[in-house]
Amino acid sequence: MSNVAVIGMQWGDEGKGKITDLLTPAFDIVARYQGGHNAGHTIYVDGRKVILHLIPSGVLHSGKLCLMGNGMVINPEAFLQEKKALEEIGIDIQDNILISPNAHLILPYHTEIESLREEQSDLKIGTTCRGIGPAYVDKADRLGIKVGDLLNPELLRTKIEHNVREKNVLLAHYGKEPLEAEPIVRQFSEYAEQLRPYIRDVSFFLDNAFREGRPVLYEGAQGALLDVDHGTYPFVTSSNSTAGGICSGLGIGPDKLDAVLGVCKAYTTRVGEGPFPTEAFDQWGEYLRDHGQEYGSTTGRPRRCGWLDAVQLAYACRLNGVKRIILTKPDVLDGLEEIKVCVDYTYKGETLPSFPMESWVLEKAEPRYRTVKGWGTGVAGQSAWDDLPQGFRDYVKLIEDLLEVKVAIISTGVGRRDTILMEDHLRGLVDLSRLDPAAA
Ligand code: IMP
Repeated sequence: MSNVAVIGMQWGDEGKGKITDLLTPAFDIVARYQGGHNAGHTIYVDGRKVILHLIPSGVLHSGKLCLMGNGMVINPEAFLQEKKALEEIGIDIQDNILISPNAHLILPYHTEIESLREEQSDLKIGTTCRGIGPAYVDKADRLGIKVGDLLNPELLRTKIEHNVREKNVLLAHYGKEPLEAEPIVRQFSEYAEQLRPYIRDVSFFLDNAFREGRPVLYEGAQGALLDVDHGTYPFVTSSNSTAGGICSGLGIGPDKLDAVLGVCKAYTTRVGEGPFPTEAFDQWGEYLRDHGQEYGSTTGRPRRCGWLDAVQLAYACRLNGVKRIILTKPDVLDGLEEIKVCVDYTYKGETLPSFPMESWVLEKAEPRYRTVKGWGTGVAGQSAWDDLPQGFRDYVKLIEDLLEVKVAIISTGVGRRDTILMEDHLRGLVDLSRLDPAAA
């Protein structure tokens, strides 16, 4: 029995949703530990596109328990909308979702303040404007309102009134009318009744699950380079998306994490502002966006696109303890004559030893590329390693050598069937007999 994490290795949108969905049958529990409805996990089931923002992707499988840990920030409206959308496709979440009472709530003032700041301030991050950052600010400032507070009407009222008084000062700064506390108290009292059945001590629940030997899949949102501590600050999200966030975000010990599978797209994308050394400003950036359908699943924004970056990925491996990679969307590179991979960065004529910490160095770092021949076509839709073109197999080997990892899964398309499992690299971590990629 292993407890395994699936984590994004780039700036998000690596295809974690499909991978979590694929691996879920081998686990009893799927747990999210950070972020909120800024995430967007797109999964295709029976040809139907399902986008989940807040609820763990494991919910699409009956009988799996989905946990939303204390490290998350929850917008009740978003949760209820997602619940409804799932019910419309025949998925009832009543008995299989648990939300930690220690997760923090996103309130209407968080979203409003963030939108105003993104519009009006000099430092535009390009956030999803979902109130994620301001909710984490309140958490760190000890002003936050927790999911558990919904169960105590008096405390809920006091906290909302206090927060509204403070936020009105900020809203006035942005030239906005003050908010009234009362409608928010009423709205959140209604949410309290709707969320009540889901609120449970996630840490305690997990402890019992571990004692019973039930394997847990930890589902990361965003990506390593969006981590608030280790990402390209300030152009990051406001939580620890790296593996370090798992323990604090669920209330478990580090001995409950056996391995981290790093999900890595065969090229790189990011949304929002911030440095991106291998961004392709020429026709190849557009090519990758068009062929990879690189538009945000949460905001619909076109994603910035560029080549694979081994410097950035080596850093993500270090941050997360990744030894095994899941490679997604290589089929987008089908048909290219040449493919570029960044192997190191130079700065002021010197080769940098690793991904630089200083933002001003990263902004000026120049990627040095190795150009490899394309493999023609033949990756899209494959489900067996032996059927893959030799050029692509060489590309996989190059990634393994550059990052000192093994590629454990290759996703060759959007469906569950479009997957190659490298069984030798998964054995012992994932109970392969429980996986059924053909069950699409
Ligand atoms: P926030 O998480 O809404 O505060 O946004 C901060 C940064 O993280 C912005 O650049 C967003 O575009 C980015 N971001 C947040 N969630 C995701 C995601 O799920 N995929 C990709 N980028 C994301």
